[in-house]
Amino acid sequence: MIIAVDGPAASGKGLLSTLIAKKLDLVRLDTGLLYRAVGQALPDSVDLKIDKKIVINAAKNLKISDLENPALKSENSGVVASKVAVIPEVRQYLLKFQQKFGKNMPFGKRGVILDGRDIGTVVFPNADHKIFLTANANIRAQRRFAELGKKGIKVKYSRVLDDIISRDERDLERDISPLVMAEDAFLIDSSNLKPNQVLDIAIKYIFRDDKV
Ligand code: DC
Repeated sequence: MIIAVDGPAASGKGLLSTLIAKKLDLVRLDTGLLYRAVGQALPDSVDLKIDKKIVINAAKNLKISDLENPALKSENSGVVASKVAVIPEVRQYLLKFQQKFGKNMPFGKRGVILDGRDIGTVVFPNADHKIFLTANANIRAQRRFAELGKKGIKVKYSRVLDDIISRDERDLERDISPLVMAEDAFLIDSSNLKPNQVLDIAIKYIFRDDKV
């Protein structure tokens, strides 16, 4: 079984996918981490001047163990990722990586769940189940701001909101594989929902026709 979960930054895709994976015994791949790991290959990702050769090479040679780097969780890593994600060759190599992951059904589990921006449209257009999870930008920024606060990371709320808005713009407007809902995806707007409510709705959708 392959489940695709797409949606904008900080919409809760990661948490939802983790919860579904646990409940249904699936292996999860957070595909944002792939783009983050590629961005990490840049010598100074804060003052970003993208060296295409370096990032294309990083995408070509990416290994699953590269995704364990704790630095990939930072806000800056996400911003850099959305910049390297517009490079066609990077997307091409990462597409192969993701498709291989899905086809290999790792660790003898029941299936895989991948979350990102283009899973249901490009990576696995024939996925068994497709969820598009969204929430309005202010709510996403508030959630991200609270998460960062819990981790003791000090940042201005306006900065978090600006980052989310500019990442939305880059993700929606890029030429290749932009963030778009697949025609046959199931839309969940989590703006006014708690994580367990989102999970219940998603599970009902997955079991809608006993296709699991
Ligand atoms: O899900 P995330 O915030 O970790 O993703 C970081 C960036 O990676 C996101 O802004 C765009 C890019 N990305 C992508 O282009 N396609 C995906 N399937 C996943 C992420």
